[in-house]
Amino acid sequence: MTAARITVDPRFPIGAVRRRLFGGFVEHLGRHVYDGIYEPGHPAADEQGFRRDVLELVRELGVSLIRYPGGNFVSGFRWEDSVGPRERRPRRLDLAWHSTETNEIGLHEFSDWLTKAGSDLMLAVNLGTRGTLEAIDLLEYSNIPGGSALSQQRIDNGRTAPFDVRVWCLGNEMDGPWQLGHRSADDYGKLAAQTAKGMRQMDPSIELVVCGSSGAQMPTFGEWERVVLEHTYDDVDMISCHAYYQEHDGDVDSFLASAVDMDRFIEAVAATADHVGAVKGSDKRIDISFDEWNVWYIDRVDSVKPTAIDDWPVAPRLLEDVYSALDAVVFGSLLISLLSHADRVASASLAQLVNVIAPIMTEPGGPTWRQTTFFPFAITSRLAQGDAVRLHVEAPSIDTAKHGTVAAVDAVATHDADTGATAIFLVHRGREEAIEVTIDVSGLGAAEIVETHLLHDDDPYARNTLDDPERVQPRAVESRLEGGILRVTLPPIAWAALALRTR
Ligand code: AHR
Repeated sequence: MTAARITVDPRFPIGAVRRRLFGGFVEHLGRHVYDGIYEPGHPAADEQGFRRDVLELVRELGVSLIRYPGGNFVSGFRWEDSVGPRERRPRRLDLAWHSTETNEIGLHEFSDWLTKAGSDLMLAVNLGTRGTLEAIDLLEYSNIPGGSALSQQRIDNGRTAPFDVRVWCLGNEMDGPWQLGHRSADDYGKLAAQTAKGMRQMDPSIELVVCGSSGAQMPTFGEWERVVLEHTYDDVDMISCHAYYQEHDGDVDSFLASAVDMDRFIEAVAATADHVGAVKGSDKRIDISFDEWNVWYIDRVDSVKPTAIDDWPVAPRLLEDVYSALDAVVFGSLLISLLSHADRVASASLAQLVNVIAPIMTEPGGPTWRQTTFFPFAITSRLAQGDAVRLHVEAPSIDTAKHGTVAAVDAVATHDADTGATAIFLVHRGREEAIEVTIDVSGLGAAEIVETHLLHDDDPYARNTLDDPERVQPRAVESRLEGGILRVTLPPIAWAALALRTR
């Protein structure tokens, strides 16, 4: 057994835990919307065709702001297709995912679903194949109470009150050559600035997210952020980060250290944004919207190209990764990274929510179940309250091929000064032996353990599937608290959360 030591002291806050850190992402992709959240013929469907069993799990997951409707999908999307009488909505070819979009679900229906889920809308505009005018039109349709052509159209379509969308994404992954309408940082920066200015002329109260890099591995990373922010600094509030991680060629150590890469990514983007602000002599600070993050076996994605000119399926099975216990441990460590940057990451969206690289799976006409990744998200979203707190961690180190030498244990805490609720989130990246973690919580005053959760399986590749939906479940952590010292034993490859109540 190895050992690690941690000190928790609430006098070292990182920043407030914003609910938006626990956001999600619903894209019109594969079986996410159709045969995912929406399946009118399903026994659990409500009067609008939304699956009640899925809604229940979405609520249990605790997702705040949900980014919609894409993703790559949005860069070919005409929002006007998805509103108005359903029978008149066109079927369109979605070039991003080589599917047919029926437009049965659009802004109105999705907004109703969000109300049922208890989440808010983050809307992306198409800056790939469309421009400023279409973005402004969508804003008018969504946020203007009435008295104009498009607000009246919304009212005529059955929605009197505006959708009042607070957060808007100015396109999606515009740095990516795969993106419809992909362009240079300079071209995108100009378009994003013009669009942002126009949108703010209509509704100055909205928050805007400009596209950063699709990943820190992009060849334009860093320079893309600098150029785009030089154009948009005064007109936007956040810049996006996207990151997906997977195990490559059996390199489990590097995979387990993925959050180190996420830490560096966030810090590099913040530094670049601050550099642009400094050059501009601006007091304003640009925050980060980490609006796509997850474990995703992108290398395993089957071709989404049609096999024939008339092959454009509706809701095909795409990107349906089945997550292991190991994936869930890495996933939990990514949440630790996000919380550890609560001062800078103002919003984050788990990509995605149902069926598509998702914590929730469904079978048409059949059940819904929780993937392994469901648990760290639901537990962290529920327990993280108040301020994120920086911890002093002393732990053995692990050499990784991709991320250099990393600590075997990473951790963050949250503390709510009003209620005394404290939560500690930990990851153990060691693969061989258990570790005893001694946590000095004396700085919290008298405390007691109220709940503990451990995500670990003796088989790191164990998964929850349709046939065995409860194979991997969180259980209690071996822990005891005496005289201000909390002792926790973590098995190899484990993620854990402990909630304490202070008196
Ligand atoms: O989440 C899946 C895809 O990943 C999104 O559509 C795109 O934005 C990213 O490349």
